[in-house]
Amino acid sequence: MKFKKKILCIGAGYVGAPSMAMIAYKCPDYRVTVVDINHERIDAWNSSQLPVYEPGLERIVKETRGKNLFFSKDIANQIKDNDIIFVSVNTPTKTYGAGADMAADLQYWEKTARQILKYSQSSKIVIEKSTLPVKTALAMEKILSSAKGRIKFEVLSNPEFMAEGTAINDLENPDRVLIGSHETKSGLKARRELMGIYARWIPLKKIITSNLWSSELSKLVANAFLAQRVSSINSISALCEKTEADITEVARAVGMDSRIGNKFLKAGIGFGGSCFKKDILNLVYLCSYYGLKDVASYWESVVKINQYQQERFIANILNNMFGTLAGKKICVLGFAFKADTSDTRESPAIYISQQLLAEHAEIIISDPRALKNAAMELSGIEGNIKYVEDTYRAAAGCHALVILTDWDLYRRLDFRKIYRSMVKPAFLFDGRNIIDHKKCFSIGFNVYPIGKKALTHL
Ligand code: UDX
Ligand code: ADP
Repeated sequence: MKFKKKILCIGAGYVGAPSMAMIAYKCPDYRVTVVDINHERIDAWNSSQLPVYEPGLERIVKETRGKNLFFSKDIANQIKDNDIIFVSVNTPTKTYGAGADMAADLQYWEKTARQILKYSQSSKIVIEKSTLPVKTALAMEKILSSAKGRIKFEVLSNPEFMAEGTAINDLENPDRVLIGSHETKSGLKARRELMGIYARWIPLKKIITSNLWSSELSKLVANAFLAQRVSSINSISALCEKTEADITEVARAVGMDSRIGNKFLKAGIGFGGSCFKKDILNLVYLCSYYGLKDVASYWESVVKINQYQQERFIANILNNMFGTLAGKKICVLGFAFKADTSDTRESPAIYISQQLLAEHAEIIISDPRALKNAAMELSGIEGNIKYVEDTYRAAAGCHALVILTDWDLYRRLDFRKIYRSMVKPAFLFDGRNIIDHKKCFSIGFNVYPIGKKALTHL
């Protein structure tokens, strides 16, 4: 079959692969190829065990794979063979040198740019899809424009706003698609080309355009605003615990103001995921770079509150369990950074588990999808850790249950059965406020929610 367009994506991760699968699904007449330096990952994308758990993803991949969606290891030939290249490689926070712990580590990006340069034999549109610090597109352009001759590269910024766990719906019905470009003739032409792809399934009024700076900055700002809401409600949850106020009641009342809205007002153990912390720290770095100290410290406080919330949670467990966890068995329910994903990057469960181990507790970690990643996150950490998928087996014989992920299955557990199998007094710390606290209290648990009164028999 002759394809109308040939699209490549470099980076087969949580962002690159699902977003390309959606393009392939919506545009059967386009050929979409995804490459990665990680060959195991490519093998997994080509197998029946996809490397990423995301509701609805498997169906779309199965429908398109081998027809117009391909996962390949041959980066060089694929660069040669495709005219539209999305780049979705990872950009972790730098751990060394200038901007350590704040700026993004751009080495993967730069390597990718140099690879594109090396293997291209014709002009290409290069689309920045990962969240990157502002000005990356310009840096990329500089590397690419060092090409001699007639090959031209037009760099676009097209940040991805999908959230894990709801990625397929977010990709299919996004609130908006943002395309940043130069306002030059060739920039506008490339922008039209990319708009044409999205217009196959997204209404034109939702496809918005801007200059490169605005596009790159918008992604950081959107994530910073969302994270700020989580930190704001979490900060108020601390106040609720000291007073008669209840965070769920406060959030409901506040969220019904249509100017505020009711989303992202769930108090918990703090935000995780690969984006929020990294993007805010990028924003902080950017503000400091431009000498805006007050603005930098304003945004930095969002990350500080997130850390504070986790520290508070641990202190609450320790204080209520008579000041010692040594030798006690704690069942950690959920390790993923949110429900419906296997992703554990920056999950609050990492820090909380480490602290429980530091107190010499024995931890039994349970999660329906993320146990493999949990074991990777905690590898090399001293302590007594077990991984048990079945919730009931994990909880049996424990002194406390600690809910860290908002998996729906935890709402439907038979807490009576669990209570019977636990050491008494049995403790339940609901870090996500997802279970029926009164019911668990009446069963016999000592229940400690976030931002509301504890229900205890002690
Ligand atoms: C986020 C952005 O939502 C998305 O637009 C962007 O493309 C990538 O970053 P993601 O990190 O996948 O997506 O998940 P998100 O739903 O935003 O949740 C982030 C964290 O905040 C999770 O740990 C979640 O549990 C927490 N959260 C979210 C809360 O604690 N309370 C809330 O009310 C909402
Ligand atoms: P994200 O959540 O942003 O998608 P991931 O870490 O899940 O981040 O995915 C990024 C992918 O990019 C990884 O699979 C990694 O192996 C891949 N990658 C990094 N550098 C390169 C490169 N130079 N060429 C190809 N793939 C790369």
